[in-house]
Amino acid sequence: MRIKACRKAHFNAAHRLYRKDWSDEKNLEVFGKCSNPKYHGHNYELIVSVLGEIDQETGYLIDLKVLKGYIKTEIEDYMDHKNLNEEVKEFIDLNPTVENIAVVIWNRLRTKIDAKYDIEITLYETPRNFVIYKGE
Ligand code: NI
Repeated sequence: MRIKACRKAHFNAAHRLYRKDWSDEKNLEVFGKCSNPKYHGHNYELIVSVLGEIDQETGYLIDLKVLKGYIKTEIEDYMDHKNLNEEVKEFIDLNPTVENIAVVIWNRLRTKIDAKYDIEITLYETPRNFVIYKGE
């Protein structure tokens, strides 16, 4: 029996969307307010979903306490209250769009969560804007 278990989490972070090789005017045209050179913040809502088979011995898919710990150390401790462009190494040369943040989160959790599970990342940048990344 395949099932999906989900854990919600949250972090605040600052970012600026821009390309270093573009002028401030071009960045404003493409990225709007998110290109503000002085940065700005978002309240990111994260849902980490793990998919796989129920363990017949325990009745668990995955121990959610363990998943909670991975999310805390790999994502919350790493990104919460950070300036993503300047303090998170993955974004030194990568635009911290909600799409790219979701990919980075997936990559970081993939190194921790057993390969027998599939992982899906749902990341909200605003209450109405979100992306889903499944590692495809
Ligand atoms: Ni923004």
